[in-house]
Amino acid sequence: MTKKLAIIGGTGLAELEGVEVLGQKKVTTPYGEPSGPIVEGQYDGKKVLFLARHGNPHRIPPHEVNYAANIYALKQEGATAIIAVNAVGGIEGVMGPAHVVIPDQIIDYTHGRKSTYFEGEMDSVNHIDFSYPYSESVRQMLIKAAEIHDVAYSDYGVYGCTQGPRLETAAEVARLERDGCDIVGMTGMPEAALAAEQEIDYACLALVVNWAAGKTESIITMEEIEQAIDEGMGYVKKILIEVINS
Ligand code: HPA
Repeated sequence: MTKKLAIIGGTGLAELEGVEVLGQKKVTTPYGEPSGPIVEGQYDGKKVLFLARHGNPHRIPPHEVNYAANIYALKQEGATAIIAVNAVGGIEGVMGPAHVVIPDQIIDYTHGRKSTYFEGEMDSVNHIDFSYPYSESVRQMLIKAAEIHDVAYSDYGVYGCTQGPRLETAAEVARLERDGCDIVGMTGMPEAALAAEQEIDYACLALVVNWAAGKTESIITMEEIEQAIDEGMGYVKKILIEVINS
């Protein structure tokens, strides 16, 4: 069976320029409203679905995204594979601003978010395997595309997902580093686990937009973040187009 690919765009990626929009569909789910319509696009005859995680324009903060509705809506529209684009802070030495990371692990520090479809009245309790949270086949597609375009990237990394919306303290980042986290973001979970529950192949394409708190002398500014987004989203888009076209 061929994959039906969907992209969840994060901060800095509210739409996919270069992809022809064929239509937009407002989808309702038993879990409420997704962040926006599901956009159906096409590049060189290859179809792709797109959803802006924070809405378009960007308005929903990470802790208020309806991850359950978003994943369910994509499943309803037939998605079998998802590339999730996430802006993150860099902790590991090579993962500075505008570096692309295709992580292979997650640690979840979020709380109070709906993190499972398996609750309420059920016939049996369901525990999905989540040892390797990202789909290796989707990761390999991303890695191959990054290689082709000669992008500065890492094909490994532990994504520490914090609650936000504030950035971390320097001590919190030091703890994340001791835990083994290489990057820190606010939107990787529960999205990945919900996709796993829906049996959708899911991987993350993370763009580092700042050094995490305490990793440099200076504080984190929005200007610095916007500059890294401007530079790095170009690489992210090249990778996405390559994967859509493959
Ligand atoms: N921390 C958490 N989330 C983020 C960061 C960060 O430094 N940068 C972008 N998203």
